[in-house]
Amino acid sequence: MRKPIVVVGSINLDLVATADHVPLPGETLTGKSFNTFHGGKGANQAVGVGRLGFPVSMVAKVGDDAFGTELKASLRKAKVEVKAVKTVTGSSGVALINIGSDGQNNIVVVPGANGKLLPKDISANSGLLRKAGMILAQLEIPLITLETLAVFAHRNKIPLMLDPAPARELPGGVLQAVSWITPNESEARILCGLAPNEAVTPRTAARCADLLLARGPKNVVIKMGAQGAYIATADGARQMVPSFTVKAVDTTAAGDAFNAGFAVSLLRGKEPREAARYASAVAAISVTRNGAQPSMPSARDVERFLKSQD
Ligand code: RIB
Repeated sequence: MRKPIVVVGSINLDLVATADHVPLPGETLTGKSFNTFHGGKGANQAVGVGRLGFPVSMVAKVGDDAFGTELKASLRKAKVEVKAVKTVTGSSGVALINIGSDGQNNIVVVPGANGKLLPKDISANSGLLRKAGMILAQLEIPLITLETLAVFAHRNKIPLMLDPAPARELPGGVLQAVSWITPNESEARILCGLAPNEAVTPRTAARCADLLLARGPKNVVIKMGAQGAYIATADGARQMVPSFTVKAVDTTAAGDAFNAGFAVSLLRGKEPREAARYASAVAAISVTRNGAQPSMPSARDVERFLKSQD
């Protein structure tokens, strides 16, 4: 019996406007379209795992508004176990997302119910968490909750994959409990103290990965979009895994798709390099589709995609 993945994280309703480009500071733009999608970094990763056919549960909170019911239903539809997704008074998390015609985005998240996921929710779900083959977390929940989760994972020897998004300074205790940290380029710049516009090249990624490893995580993956993913592991392996060339229409949740694919593939026994190739395929498919959760591919989609690339 496979141990499930448990995602401890956010659930959002994404309000998405598309325009020629993402607005510059102070700029007003006429948009081309508006849509709502089910999102939230935690929920996207959970749905990603569920679509790939791997058992997954989520520990999270939604609000008692209409969105909350809808967001929970979307998780269930992707076969995510939602017994530990509680409804609390107030609004659900929302994300305001602008997408340009090149598929790039910027996002403002208002946490709502996600901000009410507290340390006591970790102890309340300790039975579920203890059974996990891996725990996935991100930074859209209170830091104190993540710190409690990190201690729990470390004590119970459960691998913790942390997507440090949205990026912020992290306490040493969290970093030391992490098995995999998976920043994208902008998060890597913040975590490694690079200049905001500094290009993240494979060489910069290598330096940043070493810096992160020295602070505690056992393994690092830097997600570098079209350039690929840089992996640095505890056993000393350092490598760039190339990405797949596709026409991106919406890059929202590409990083979440990667993490879902990477975690599933590792738990299916693949080596990190192979898992990163699989994860890149999951992310590549996701950017060819609109929306966060709706863009997550099934295992069969990924198989077909990989065959088409041979
Ligand atoms: O990673 C993409 C996600 O970030 C979106 O779905 C949005 O909800 C924000 O949390």
